[in-house]
Amino acid sequence: MNQKIRKKIKRICCIGAGFVGGPTMAVIADKCKNLQINVVDKNSKRINQWNNDDLNKLPIFEPGLDKIIKRCRNKNLTFSTNVEEEISSADLVFISVNTPTKIKGLGAGKASDLKWVEACARQVAANAKGHTIVVEKSTLPVKTAEVIKNILESTNFEKEGSTNATFDVLSNPEFLAEGTAIKDLEYPDRVLIGGDCKDAIMALNEIYLNWIPQEKILHTNIWSSELAKLTANAFLAQRVSSINSIGALCEVTGANIREVSRAIGTDSRIGPKFLDAGPGFGGSCFKKDILNLVYLCQYYDLNEVATFWESVIELNNWHQSRIANLIVKKLFGTVSGKKIFILGFAFKENTNDTRESASIKICKDLLSEGAVLFINDPKVNPDQIENDLKIKETKSLLNEDVKNKSNNDGSWCFVNQVSCGFKGADAVVILTGWQEYQKIDWGNASKTMRRPSWVFDARSVISSKEITQHKLNFWQIGSGN
Ligand code: UDX
Ligand code: ADP
Repeated sequence: MNQKIRKKIKRICCIGAGFVGGPTMAVIADKCKNLQINVVDKNSKRINQWNNDDLNKLPIFEPGLDKIIKRCRNKNLTFSTNVEEEISSADLVFISVNTPTKIKGLGAGKASDLKWVEACARQVAANAKGHTIVVEKSTLPVKTAEVIKNILESTNFEKEGSTNATFDVLSNPEFLAEGTAIKDLEYPDRVLIGGDCKDAIMALNEIYLNWIPQEKILHTNIWSSELAKLTANAFLAQRVSSINSIGALCEVTGANIREVSRAIGTDSRIGPKFLDAGPGFGGSCFKKDILNLVYLCQYYDLNEVATFWESVIELNNWHQSRIANLIVKKLFGTVSGKKIFILGFAFKENTNDTRESASIKICKDLLSEGAVLFINDPKVNPDQIENDLKIKETKSLLNEDVKNKSNNDGSWCFVNQVSCGFKGADAVVILTGWQEYQKIDWGNASKTMRRPSWVFDARSVISSKEITQHKLNFWQIGSGN
């Protein structure tokens, strides 16, 4: 075994230029001008988008990201497909690749598919030179660091004599939320570094110290770090399911969820954040991480614990179906051939990410009832929606008189301008809390909708007074009056 000769970190390689790798490396490059950061991805289309001169065409939309890219790109931040080359010259490698839930085989539906992480570890093992710190950044199931270590060490062993690489493995989970990623990275509540080698922990610690005070940088063992990430997401998701469950109760009892949220949120033990009732949580992390937790509990025979966490997802699924069903019921029990204007497809505002978005489930349910959906989102493009709904867009709908359409199969089209979607619509459904939906002129909108017309506000972005004065029927999430 080679002796580990540790060196000062000067060059960083990040494998994976996605929603985590891209913004995280951009902020590190911005804060540490003495470091060279090279982001690599096997997806050349994505890399070309990161290198696009037009900063509106970056592959992800994140407020503030474009300005940082402008400042750092091709200075101390590069994006390329040179995976092997950049690994070999790096002192530290972040693994920031996708870890979706397995769809078949052992643990299907719950465990994360570590195929991409494993491939990365093998690439690092094959190409690293000298001492390299490998940092898991992607959200990973507990014990993944062990897998990475195992691959690094055994591949190195096989190549005896041909390489002088040595490794330390750290867990450094990312807590950024999409839509506020830059702020979360610049002013994090905490940074977590898990590992068993003090020198490696301190090398990473030193990077974060460039802009984060030491008291916010926590050191733990590697398993605690991995488990803390899963637990943080599970607790947050659980708050969303909790408030949505009470929202349903508000609707039938005459209470109002916004008043209940405010009343409980002022209790300093509960706190005001993450108490907004909505159409159910989405995003790439919450469901996947809870499923990982459930899988882990079942593996260790902690079945009651597994059932407890699984119910958070079940409630979320039920809640999304509940919204789709109530839309159908309010529209006289059928939406076949009816035009419904969907406002928002991203899983939350200020991102173009649609992974696990409540809009997917709710739109699919309405399409299966034969609805004609006109869909708007300021940042999601129609190709992504087509991909998510698995139904081709019918662009010609934009020029048809939908209200006379007899339709058993659902269909949809994309509407670029919000003001162009109301004509002839039986209902408007707000599913993402984009700011511009708060500015809709309901007086004008209501004039062209078909009567009786409905507005369903699943994000509490509009006031009931504004809607009802225009003789529109109004349903708002968690509102019992
Ligand atoms: C989450 C975690 O917040 C972040 O720390 C982790 O790194 C990744 O997973 P993200 O999924 O990007 O971040 O967004 P988040 O703001 O947590 O929202 C998740 C979902 O919950 C969204 O669909 C959002 O609309 C919903 N939500 C959130 C609510 O419905 N109500 C709330 O009060 C808060
Ligand atoms: P996240 O939200 O975790 O950032 P994404 O799916 O947005 O996830 O990004 C992960 C990125 O990792 C993708 O762009 C994918 O092409 C890339 N990737 C996965 N495996 C590898 C690999 N072995 N080498 C290089 N890039 C990879």
